[in-house]
Amino acid sequence: MNERTTPPDADVAGQDPTRPEGAPRTGEPLISVRGVDKFFGDFQALKGIDLDIHRGEVVALIGASGSGKSTLCRCLNRLETITAGEITIDGERLPEEGRELTRLRADVGMVFQSFNLFPHLKAIDNVTLGPRKVRGVPKAEADRQAMELLERVGLADKANSLPTALSGGQQQRVAIARALAMKPKALLFDEPTSALDPEVINEVLDVMAELAKAGMTMLVVTHEMGFARHVCDRVVYMDAGEIVEEGEPEQFFTAPRSDRAKAFLSKILAH
Ligand SMILES: Nc1ncnc2c1ncn2[C@@H]1O[C@H](COP(=O)(O)OP(=O)(O)OP(=O)(O)O)[C@@H](O)[C@H]1O
Ligand SMILES: [Mg+2]
Repeated sequence: MNERTTPPDADVAGQDPTRPEGAPRTGEPLISVRGVDKFFGDFQALKGIDLDIHRGEVVALIGASGSGKSTLCRCLNRLETITAGEITIDGERLPEEGRELTRLRADVGMVFQSFNLFPHLKAIDNVTLGPRKVRGVPKAEADRQAMELLERVGLADKANSLPTALSGGQQQRVAIARALAMKPKALLFDEPTSALDPEVINEVLDVMAELAKAGMTMLVVTHEMGFARHVCDRVVYMDAGEIVEEGEPEQFFTAPRSDRAKAFLSKILAH
């Protein structure tokens, strides 16, 4: 994908332009998770999760299959209810339901493994649907913003294509543009490249790295350890519904503290 030379987009919500690189994070976290438990019947999928994500922070969420990564993401924008604990987004507690929930949910965009584009809508119409229907943005304005976003993900020339005419990597980039169109304060990515052919994984990771550089607040569930290590500010490692360890990527990958993280890393980095 093309090297981008444009300066970071000042329009990205959730960024913290005042914090010098490497300076400690201060102030209210954008996303705060406190003592969150999640049960499916008798099965406890999340066990006392505490997690803060600050403005502009990019956090990799990693762990074995079934450890609760997707469940945590889904709880963060209330696609799942929580059994106990509290989640706040930008200081506001996520309500159980109602119009307030719709508003707060739109603050946190989500990008899934399966792109979930509407197959009968052109790329641009997939991007404008949310702003028009949920935010009431007039068509001309929504189209203009969508073109800017498609440009940003390198797909301005595909605006009028149907999803079936796009590669998996292109569809996922449309899905990212669609999430950005709602002007979210943070983005959650749940294995955004897992369904992609190897040769298009990087074009999606490049777009994500650009967003990270522009200051977007992101939580990324990924098996792409290079991305976790080189783009993310922090790695959070989950096992069996718990956060077992978290730390700076370099420290986590070179000197994990817990036996569980050591065992996990030796398995995934062995080949
Ligand atoms: N709707 C559900 N009903 C019952 N159990 C569920 C449900 N959703 C998830 N679980 C269980 O919760 C646990 C955590 O699942 P989750 O999908 O969050 O794991 P994950 O870390 O995302 O795994 P993967 O890497 O395979 O995507 C699993 O044991 C799963 O079977
Ligand atoms: Mg999952």
